Amino acid sequence: MNGLGLVAVTGATGRQGGAVARHLLADGWRIRALTRDPSSEKAQELAAAGAEVMRVDMADIATLRPAFAGAHGVFNVQNPMKCGFDEEVVQGRNVGDAAAEAGVRHVVYASAGPGESGTGVRQWENKLVIRAHFESLGLPLTVLRPMALMELMTDKDFFPPVGVWHLMPKLMGGDRPVPWLCADDLGAVAARAFAEPDRFVGADLKLASDVRTIDECRALWRAVHGRPPRRFPMPIWLFRKFTGDDLLVMWRWLRGRPVETDGAATLEIVPSARSVRDWLSSRAR
Ligand SMILES: NC(=O)c1ccc[n+]([C@@H]2O[C@H](COP(=O)([O-])OP(=O)(O)OC[C@H]3O[C@@H](n4cnc5c(N)ncnc54)[C@H](OP(=O)(O)O)[C@@H]3O)[C@@H](O)[C@H]2O)c1
Repeated sequence: MNGLGLVAVTGATGRQGGAVARHLLADGWRIRALTRDPSSEKAQELAAAGAEVMRVDMADIATLRPAFAGAHGVFNVQNPMKCGFDEEVVQGRNVGDAAAEAGVRHVVYASAGPGESGTGVRQWENKLVIRAHFESLGLPLTVLRPMALMELMTDKDFFPPVGVWHLMPKLMGGDRPVPWLCADDLGAVAARAFAEPDRFVGADLKLASDVRTIDECRALWRAVHGRPPRRFPMPIWLFRKFTGDDLLVMWRWLRGRPVETDGAATLEIVPSARSVRDWLSSRAR
């Protein structure tokens, strides 16, 4: 594999886009890292690592046109928990339209959820709408579908004491298997997809490198840290006030519907993809 072309990476200063940009740079691709703020610390780090940093607003298609000009590939991600659900679809459609106009040859989409409609989970349903739009445009597409990012257990902006360690098991059941993947390994999978279009264009990949219940994750955390994770028992009504309904609907859906994912397919693509234990240990250092 060698660096053949240019990949425009949306969300490049974020969890998944950042990992994708790092892996593609390491593989030798040219990267156009897209951000609303090229002066931010993360954008500057990307520039120092060799990426071309460009300002875009995914809500404004005019800013995406120059960003995709000359690109072989586009990595697409939106964050509805920050921008809102309607805006997620607007942004995703804009990315698709601009990618099609630019004649992009491969779009890798960071999707989510079980990949079926009728769940009532807006951020999962939106992913299907965006995917359908990409398909209607005839874009060569790879869909990456992680269920739960391991960062849910550690990253402050996910408020783990309230979310993953309290309300998620309360609503879903602490004994339900959860498919886990860390953002860095999603980046590794995306890099494989761009490197091997014959294998991955048209693929819709349910991704997980480990399948563990929250109870098991709690025990792994205790084994790694020597104490249980902090838990903050916030009432549902208060959580709803801060974040809305969608995560509550998601966790209740997961209670009723076991998610069938084993780690084997993901490990075949990225053999080094981390288990929950390995990942928690690496974060504890
Ligand atoms: N949490 C989970 O367990 C999980 C599991 C599976 C899937 N997902 C999915 O993951 C997605 C979120 O991914 P993530 O965690 O990587 O997000 P993230 O870390 O919040 O990154 C999103 C990036 O998008 C950029 N951005 C935001 N608004 C923009 C705009 N209008 N124009 C251009 N760029 C914009 C931001 O960069 P700037 O501020 O620099 O512009 C930000 O760094 C969601 O769709 C969610 O459904 C999450």
